[in-house]
Amino acid sequence: MTPASTDRSTTGVGGIDGILDAGHLAGLSPAALAEEFGTPFFVYDLDLIGRRVEALRAVLPRGFRIAFAVKANPSLAVLAHLRSCGVGADVASGGELETALRAGFDPALIAMTGPGKRDAELAAAVEAGIGVITVESPGELRRLESIAAATARRQPILLRLAVTDDAGLETVRIIGGVEGKFGMPLETLMEAARAAARSEHVELIGVHAFGASNVRDAEQLAAHVSELVGIGRRVAAETGIRLRLVDAGGGLGIPYSDGERPLDLARFGRRLGEMRARWDADEALAGMEILLEPGRFLVGPACAYVARVVDVKGPDSAPVAILDGGINHLLRPALVGSEHRLAVLATDAVRALVRTTVAGPLCTGIDVFTTEAMLPRPRVGDLVAALDAGAYGFTESMPFFLSHPTPVEVAVHNGRAQLIRPRITPAELLDRQINPDW
Ligand SMILES: Cc1ncc(COP(=O)(O)O)c(C=O)c1O
Repeated sequence: MTPASTDRSTTGVGGIDGILDAGHLAGLSPAALAEEFGTPFFVYDLDLIGRRVEALRAVLPRGFRIAFAVKANPSLAVLAHLRSCGVGADVASGGELETALRAGFDPALIAMTGPGKRDAELAAAVEAGIGVITVESPGELRRLESIAAATARRQPILLRLAVTDDAGLETVRIIGGVEGKFGMPLETLMEAARAAARSEHVELIGVHAFGASNVRDAEQLAAHVSELVGIGRRVAAETGIRLRLVDAGGGLGIPYSDGERPLDLARFGRRLGEMRARWDADEALAGMEILLEPGRFLVGPACAYVARVVDVKGPDSAPVAILDGGINHLLRPALVGSEHRLAVLATDAVRALVRTTVAGPLCTGIDVFTTEAMLPRPRVGDLVAALDAGAYGFTESMPFFLSHPTPVEVAVHNGRAQLIRPRITPAELLDRQINPDW
């Protein structure tokens, strides 16, 4: 169970912990936002995103760069704001590349990583002049080489190392592990590295590996970077290349329930600082840069999904509230089995907390945000917020199911709210279908 509350206002104005503070979302009245934009809506606090970028950057040693993982939130306005904060972008598809370019990212600060890149996507990335492409397999290396050969550009590349979890008595993470969907086992990678180092069309500059998702343990995150640098050093030694970039992926975690501790950023920074000092004393590593690709950490807590209570049933002591949106807009709780904190954004007098079920309007039993949150007894018309909804939120969901309107997305910057993605109505979705005239 995820304990929920009416307000997690431990943040204080200027904090980096969350969007809800003293009953306000990004400093604005939820009722006023609902009045202006309708429900359901996602609201992003862009200034909070900026503070989270700064907080991370402040602990990173020299030579560390940040590229936002676009998959976590590809909203154009969110990306444009992140670009203005000076971070780069990590894209996983041609569509994400297009979005990042539209958001104004300098192509040199774009990295592309992901399985199953089509030729057209690789070609678009090479033609756009992006900083680096992470190659996932020997086959992809061959395809990219011939694509790059057709251009005048020698494309900088990384090779992606497979990481597997061996769930024995204790889960052991094997870096350079067995063949799977992502990257290459170490032996395959070494072979690909030798081929890439001889290539005239690609330029091998380092290695990539994504460790694990939503890690709030600073030591684990730092250990991943350290291990991967060790692999990068071996690749450089075997191939004679100069190791210029190690991309340690994302995975910086956030708490989703009140009992979970946030990532200790200061500790993470200290560990990285110690490593940097060691690398600087090693001629083979001195000039190397490290790229981190956080998604969730930067945007997750800076957003709430807000829906309105349409119906309340059941006894006063254990009510069931049905909202006008559910997992069609925020699938994550059902997808990964992790609840989001919920808040009833009631403006009236304090109500007693009762064990509450909160569900969406879909005709499936999995469309339930919680069955046991202690919340002020909801009433029809109340607004309910699911917090920490900024990463893997709307765009990871299933908005077509049951033909409800999509949520709108709203961004708040300097105290001003703006619509950034209008609602799509069922009629508009119907207009995109074809009923053949047989
Ligand atoms: C290659 C890569 N980089 C970065 C990320 C971002 O991860 P997170 O949002 O957990 O930081 C992912 C997530 O799947 C990924 O696959």
